[in-house]
Amino acid sequence: MSNQNTNRGQNPNNNPNNNNLNNQQPKGPNGQPIMPNGQIPIGPKGQPIMGQPIMPNGQMPLGPNGQPLKPNGKQPKAPKTPKTKTEWLPELTEQERKDAKDSKAKEKILSKAQKYKEKKAKKGGAFKVVNFPEVKETGLKGHKTRIRLQKQLTSKYSKDILNGDIISTTGNRPDTSRYAIEIYGAKKWYTNGDMVTQILKGVDLKIEKSKFIVILGPSGSGKTTLLNSISGLDKVTVGDVFSVGHNLTLLKDSHLTKFRRENVGFIFQQYNLLSNLTARENAEVGENLSVPTENSMTIEEIFETIGMKEQMNKYPHQMSGGQQQRVSIARALAKNPEILFGDEPTGALDEEMGRKVLEILLEVKNRFKTTVIIVTHNPNIAEIGDTVIHVRNGLIDKLAHNSNPKKPSEIDWS
Ligand SMILES: Nc1ncnc2c1ncn2[C@@H]1O[C@H](COP(=O)(O)OP(=O)(O)OP(=O)(O)O)[C@@H](O)[C@H]1O
Ligand SMILES: [Mg+2]
Repeated sequence: MSNQNTNRGQNPNNNPNNNNLNNQQPKGPNGQPIMPNGQIPIGPKGQPIMGQPIMPNGQMPLGPNGQPLKPNGKQPKAPKTPKTKTEWLPELTEQERKDAKDSKAKEKILSKAQKYKEKKAKKGGAFKVVNFPEVKETGLKGHKTRIRLQKQLTSKYSKDILNGDIISTTGNRPDTSRYAIEIYGAKKWYTNGDMVTQILKGVDLKIEKSKFIVILGPSGSGKTTLLNSISGLDKVTVGDVFSVGHNLTLLKDSHLTKFRRENVGFIFQQYNLLSNLTARENAEVGENLSVPTENSMTIEEIFETIGMKEQMNKYPHQMSGGQQQRVSIARALAKNPEILFGDEPTGALDEEMGRKVLEILLEVKNRFKTTVIIVTHNPNIAEIGDTVIHVRNGLIDKLAHNSNPKKPSEIDWS
């Protein structure tokens, strides 16, 4: 029993709810009314109730919403409903508010799209083959030489690449009308102190646009290294990696960031949502980074696609893992990415939610013609891919095209 309750009970007249009971009903030692059976009323935890009227049936009095009153007889505060951005036009009906917001959002997208088109039209598009000499030295010395050569070419060509020039160190010219990704002779080394380890050992690969691609392989085979190298999170040491036509190998870090912002979306195993933003606000983070097109969707349309329209104003802690992962897909889609990358996107989800997320990724590919590339170590998940890239020991072991991919509902989940 808290001191507060005791004190309040010793002076029942402090409780405005008691006033009409004073002098009319028998009272207990602490001033509380006695139940019809003569006993002191007992609260839900067995504690005597101080200074509070009790209902004739001896139960705790209930508030208008059926909730038990607090021991002092006051109404508990209603749970706070989070403020939402849709509250900005309170005089309109729900439908009017939605229409107004949708058309305003579309207008904004289209004017941004126009500006972006003009900017892109100004960009170059020259094709140039540059020399990246083969390095004969081995170990750390060889690695340092390769990094030095890469830096020289990067400082010379990074800006041109970002502006649309095609710079190749292997003589290959990418066909962006057909392929989202083209890789020629990609090798990557990691250093750990004086130790140098080669992770990618010469990757050649073409990934068709608007397909569902699965990168499959055992743990440590280099899947994440490959995914990071084609998505601009990292880059290979030598070779050409054309992603959306840009040779990422020769982009400097700040230009890689710009490339990612303008071209690609990511979903990770852990959803990486901002905990103090609602689902809608989290998705809007992506929208702010977006490069608009006429096909751009509003946030509302995106949430409809992912089946989360009812959850838009929830915070991450109020959602299940699968729902949070869907919000992270919404955030990625709000950017209008050319390519959507996912590293084990269902790795933290149970079967039901995992299947749902895969279904949405397929829907994204079918509806918006987005190239979707996911990494998994689960061969069952690979069965839904149009193309499966088998990675083993830093090399592409096999590239399998699947003319009849399974639906997420048809695969085993073990
Ligand atoms: N930053 C790094 N520095 C040094 N070695 C690294 C680094 N990142 C990865 N590696 C090594 O590169 C190899 C490939 O790692 P990668 O993360 O690409 O594998 P993966 O196929 O994604 O594995 P998993 O399925 O376990 O995620 C591993 O042997 C790993 O230890
Ligand atoms: Mg990995």
